Amino acid sequence: MATHKLLVLPGDGIGPEVMAEVMRLIDWLNAEGVAKFDTETGLVGGASIDADGVPITDATMAKADAADAIIFGAIGGPKWDGVAYENRPEAGLLRLRKDLGLFANLRPAVCYPALADSSSLKRDVVEGLDIMIVRELTGGVYFGEPKTITDLGNGQKRAIDTQVYDTYEIERIARVAFDLAKKRQNKVTSMEKRNVMKSGVLWNEVVTQVHGREYKDVTLDHQLADSGGMNLVKWPKQFDVIVTDNLFGDMLSDIAAMLTGSLGMLPSASLGEVDAKTGKRKAMYEPVHGSAPDIAGQGKANPLAMIASFGMALRYSLDLGDLADKVDQAIAAVLAKGLRTADLKSEGATIISTAQMGEAVLAELQALHK
Ligand code: NAD
Ligand code: IPM
Ligand code: MN
Repeated sequence: MATHKLLVLPGDGIGPEVMAEVMRLIDWLNAEGVAKFDTETGLVGGASIDADGVPITDATMAKADAADAIIFGAIGGPKWDGVAYENRPEAGLLRLRKDLGLFANLRPAVCYPALADSSSLKRDVVEGLDIMIVRELTGGVYFGEPKTITDLGNGQKRAIDTQVYDTYEIERIARVAFDLAKKRQNKVTSMEKRNVMKSGVLWNEVVTQVHGREYKDVTLDHQLADSGGMNLVKWPKQFDVIVTDNLFGDMLSDIAAMLTGSLGMLPSASLGEVDAKTGKRKAMYEPVHGSAPDIAGQGKANPLAMIASFGMALRYSLDLGDLADKVDQAIAAVLAKGLRTADLKSEGATIISTAQMGEAVLAELQALHK
């Protein structure tokens, strides 16, 4: 049986709380011999700043580079508000994404049947929803230069962020979206703002070219990102795969989270390019949510986004698709029993803690293995 090398980076706030529930699953899988994981834990974000003065060390980056997959919790929090911009907790996460070339961020928004009444939207709008947001993750305004604040000397300052995209960056993310669509409902919606942004003009042009050259059999639709956001809450079931840039993808995925009931439900996979020699790709698995300082340390966090992110690692990096299916089934079964963390509003549901939710998922997984 193959041993899978995982680097576990719990991070800050609720990060370690939700990660403990993934470790609960890993420990059981190892003990039962269902799969074999060799895990190492590292520091990232505020935890790394406190210990080593930087949001991620070179040594941890080297371990990330060598791992079969990185499992990431969440970083950030008010404790590090005073830290220099270059050294803030978020810079650790951005370095992992950029230095490892994790350009493709898959953010599936699935409404589990039991949660159709937990969304802030009406049941018929979200029931059966299954969309995939493909967010470009290593380009755009997150990384474009210049990125500065300059004192103009007249009591005014000027802040500059720069949105940059090259053809190859748009081509490769478009291919990820089209390839995913082929295994789903065969439809891609590309979102940009070509009406005001040059990068939107190029984005639209390149996605259209890739489609015409390589994916004519997939339906392609273009929406401006503002009205696309409106459509996402008006009638989300019109979408299958949405492909968009780094910043729009960040916003649209938090919005999509509420279609599923809670930000605590959305997992993600951040993937690099496939190595032509080994057929492998670098990958990190992280929930879409952050460190949730407002509920950290209270045992209230929903661990399902974190657990489902581990499920995505099983599917996309470790060739354990059957086990990934079982993790999904276990989550669905727990929710069907009316068990909820406090973020999931449901009438008549039983509110349980982070650890109880993790225990419940494990119990269902164990039942599926009997
Ligand atoms: P957040 O995602 O941490 O929280 C937003 C809201 O959602 C809060 O009310 C929080 O309680 C709730 N929430 C989030 N995850 C939850 C969960 N699993 N269970 C229950 N409720 C949950 O976003 P924020 O408050 O805007 O940011 C807080 C910090 O997190 C900031 O420092 C930000 O930079 C950082 N952040 C980190 C990541 C990451 O590590 N990938 C992602 C987003 C934000
Ligand atoms: C996310 C987060 C990050 C982002 C932050 C913490 C850097 O919001 O993963 O969605 O903006 O990409
Ligand atoms: Mn975000």
